[in-house]
Amino acid sequence: MTAAHQKVALAFSGGLDTTVCVPLLKEEYGYDEVIGVTVDVGQPEPEFTEAEETAEALGLDIHVVDAKDEFAALCFDGVRANATYQGYPLGTAMARPVIASAILEVAEEEGCTGIAHGCTGKGNDQLRFEAVWRDSDLEVIAPIRELGLTRKWEKEYAAERDLPVEGGNEGDWSIDTNLWSRSVEGKELEEPSYVPGEEIYAWTQKPTGETLELEIGFENGYAVSVDGEAMDPVEMTETLNETAGAYGVGRTDVMEDRMLGLKVRENYEHPAATVLLNAHQGLESLVLTKEERMFKNYVDQEWAEKAYGGLVNAPLVRALEGFIDETQTKVTGTVTIRLEGGQARVVGRESPYAVYSAEAASFNTEDVMDGIEQNDATGVAKYHGFQERLANKVFSAAQAKANAEAVTDGGEQSEGLRASSDEHSESDGGPASGTEE
Ligand code: ARG
Repeated sequence: MTAAHQKVALAFSGGLDTTVCVPLLKEEYGYDEVIGVTVDVGQPEPEFTEAEETAEALGLDIHVVDAKDEFAALCFDGVRANATYQGYPLGTAMARPVIASAILEVAEEEGCTGIAHGCTGKGNDQLRFEAVWRDSDLEVIAPIRELGLTRKWEKEYAAERDLPVEGGNEGDWSIDTNLWSRSVEGKELEEPSYVPGEEIYAWTQKPTGETLELEIGFENGYAVSVDGEAMDPVEMTETLNETAGAYGVGRTDVMEDRMLGLKVRENYEHPAATVLLNAHQGLESLVLTKEERMFKNYVDQEWAEKAYGGLVNAPLVRALEGFIDETQTKVTGTVTIRLEGGQARVVGRESPYAVYSAEAASFNTEDVMDGIEQNDATGVAKYHGFQERLANKVFSAAQAKANAEAVTDGGEQSEGLRASSDEHSESDGGPASGTEE
């Protein structure tokens, strides 16, 4: 064949799935060369060592891309949108488009004609990766899904080929860790009634009676400081994961509805996300009007839904962010958070944009403001609930009338008349001949 040397870029973690993909991409898909790409979104150091060692043993050229800043920036956008999906702050979900774009960039630079991942056909990640990659001209390949492979088959194949896969961890949970969250699934956790022990947690301690107060500073909805010390998103996230994790903050155990409709039991740890999301909402509650808060709830839910799908570049997201940006011009100030018993509670908040007047709300002053007096509420109080009172009155009267008519009709029926409803209304003399005064 005279065809040019064909290269494929593989999202590479060094785990079983991506390891077996390396020979498969050559044997089954006809590629001459595979390059591995590992994207740093804040995984623990040993994951990189494992990926590098495995790559070396495979003779795989591996590229490591640092995308921590970009990922943390997206997570902080998520805070502005109070982003959670079914209680989970979207760590895995938000990381995927960042990882996918970084891999695509390497693939294009390296002149690849294909791009591949090791996801199965059951999860969310295949959809999130491909949503980014299918915007390119590269051939998108998902060997595990396309060849219908099982873990069992992969292990046998790896043993046959003498592939460098760690033998010891087949019984371990499936864990995905990045800056924003750590997720644990699989094994006994697949049983929704199984109550997990402390051993599944790595970022959070079992809560004790200790407490700690933290002051989080916000500018335009972005968290910028902890206890007065300015920090960038990566540093702040790492710091808060450690600080709040020590108080057991940020554990969730959810039945999650995946994009394909499967429910899955997920346990997450996300101390920094919990602190920042709670603090941000605490500040919004001070500076936004009631209507802004209510409407923003819908906007936030839509943002989270798109983020769960890995579609943070959707036109809808840009439009939602137009609204979010506008509201966040007021989300500047500080929030005091108390870490206690696994909770991160807002215990104080202040902002120059507070939609709050202590004087107006006080019980010690007669006037509200702008000439509005306490007694002006009398007229409001008279009107308040007027429509509801009227509606209830009309409903009761109409029902009483209908019941009275049913009693009359029942009497006729007991004399042996089994009339149709049309005949009934005729014998009533039509709908206008009501007996009620
Ligand atoms: N279900 C979550 C999501 O789709 C996280 C999955 C993490 N993966 C894992 N192997 N624990 O966003």
